[in-house]
Amino acid sequence: MKLYDKNDFAKLRKVGALAADTLDYITDYVVAGVSTYDLDKLIYEFTKKNGGICAPFNYMGFPKHCCISINDVICHGIPNKHEFLNDGDIVNIDVTTILDGYYGDTSRMFNIGNVSDEAKELVDITYNAMMNSISICKPGVKLSEIGKVIQTMCEDAGFSVVRDFCGHGTGTIFHDAPQVLHYYAPENDKIILKEGMVFTIEPMINTGDWQMYVEDNDWTARTIDGGLSAQFEHTIGITKNGVEIFTKSQRGLYKPPYKK
Ligand code: MF3
Ligand code: CO
Ligand code: CO
Repeated sequence: MKLYDKNDFAKLRKVGALAADTLDYITDYVVAGVSTYDLDKLIYEFTKKNGGICAPFNYMGFPKHCCISINDVICHGIPNKHEFLNDGDIVNIDVTTILDGYYGDTSRMFNIGNVSDEAKELVDITYNAMMNSISICKPGVKLSEIGKVIQTMCEDAGFSVVRDFCGHGTGTIFHDAPQVLHYYAPENDKIILKEGMVFTIEPMINTGDWQMYVEDNDWTARTIDGGLSAQFEHTIGITKNGVEIFTKSQRGLYKPPYKK
């Protein structure tokens, strides 16, 4: 795992802002009737226009520029000409932007029209769990504390934490060590947060069980029981006394009922 300095943090701030701007920009287009293919195209064009590169394209053979994951899709949904958003869907859009060799990795949920109370609660709890786990990050804290906060909060609400995917170190490498598990894992007791660490927190939380399967396309992960899955992601850096979120919405667009 690499440690990053002041100059690196300046670059990460820039790419993080562009990634967040991309989600801010796409927000107005995320409505019933749009195809995930068109959303992907808009994200590609916006990123290019602003001097960035979409990291997912061709990454380990991934065929599109972002991941769009609807309802029971946990992550890695592939944008598709024949897939349209419908009223009542909950949708995750995950963008990873490269600027000047640095990565900004972030995702948000979008509620399409009339969404069930259960789905709304899932989305809010997932966001709050991510933000609460970020708020405890500072030098000296065990990496395992992040998973503890997320798991406790989500399981108390009756939801489950996906085990098969995790957050990751990032910076100038898309996916680096450490693995940031979103449930309590004793092996992460030994990793202590330090100034200069850069990683993502990206919990995937389900209404039913956490078990998943991967579709024949080798990417799209779905819940086995058909339950809903929500996810948010920020790229963060550990500072001298706390934490900096690189991928915060510049327009303050994502303002759910975040409470400690
Ligand atoms: N953005 C995802 C993450 O949070 C990774 C997507 S890899 C892809 O780590 F190839 F599916 F795009
Ligand atoms: Co990530
Ligand atoms: Co991501």
